[in-house]
Amino acid sequence: MLARVRYLASVHDFLQIEGLTRVQLEQLLDATNTNIPHAEGRQPAKSTLDGKVVANVFFEDSTRTRCSFETAVHRLGGEVFTVAAAGSSASKGESLVDTALNIEAMGVAVMVVRCAISGGAAMVAKALRIPVINAGDGRHEHPTQGLLDVATLREALGALDGRCVAIVGDVANSRVARSTTKALCLLGARVRLVGPPTLVSRTMQALATAPGQVEVSHDLDTALADVDAVIMLRIQLERAAGSAISSDYRILYGLTQARIRRLPAHAVILHPGPMNRGVEIDDSVADDPGRSRILRQVTLGVASRMAVLERAVVG
Ligand code: NCD
Repeated sequence: MLARVRYLASVHDFLQIEGLTRVQLEQLLDATNTNIPHAEGRQPAKSTLDGKVVANVFFEDSTRTRCSFETAVHRLGGEVFTVAAAGSSASKGESLVDTALNIEAMGVAVMVVRCAISGGAAMVAKALRIPVINAGDGRHEHPTQGLLDVATLREALGALDGRCVAIVGDVANSRVARSTTKALCLLGARVRLVGPPTLVSRTMQALATAPGQVEVSHDLDTALADVDAVIMLRIQLERAAGSAISSDYRILYGLTQARIRRLPAHAVILHPGPMNRGVEIDDSVADDPGRSRILRQVTLGVASRMAVLERAVVG
């Protein structure tokens, strides 16, 4: 039932960091800054989505991304509903694209899509007329997470040109690693991908926008000495990553209290969540008030998603 396939994604879609220019990314970061709550917690009032309905089609589990898109829509004066695979007609065999076409026919203004299929959000965008935002598609990309990660790092460190960020863990299965690496490279940072050879391969160096920008390391202890930030990743067990790790994973790649002593004093720690405490990150590291920016990522996640939704309807 692909009656209305359009073959190019529209400029209002937000499907991947790949293909964005540095200027376009910086515009989104500037827009994100205008959406950050004031210190006293007040949120700038906006009515960009007044009278508009946004559909969150989430065919994979989510807490932060789903709730922050919902919050972002509310903060922009719009209405939002969320459809999960469980409880929808996906369980009766309806395809993602058919589900999306039917929801578009209800008159929604923007669709946010999360799915297990790499390229699934682009498939939906090609079939629909309304703007589509990718909220994570399989192992491909998670562009709003890439945006919020660089927004958090810029806030903590200032300009990212020449900075070095380690991304540690299950890089192979991580759409976050792909989007955040590309965003960091666009902004002139260097990225060190760290993890076991089964989860970090040299082919990932192709994510760089300039030669030498992305390096690969299998030794976390030496990798931490000169970094400005560390982004820890969960093992993506739902993508069968479990068979690629050994029982001493925490000893080799966990961000322990002992390891953060190797970090430069100014270095900050991020994690896209959900965290598996005691596996890739220790409690005391995740909750370290000096270094951890993990909850700040969540706050800036709302501001970033507001920026992407504004771009979708205004341009
Ligand atoms: C990430 C995802 O879903 O890709 N989570 C998120 O969106 N905050 C990372 C993960 O699930 O490990």
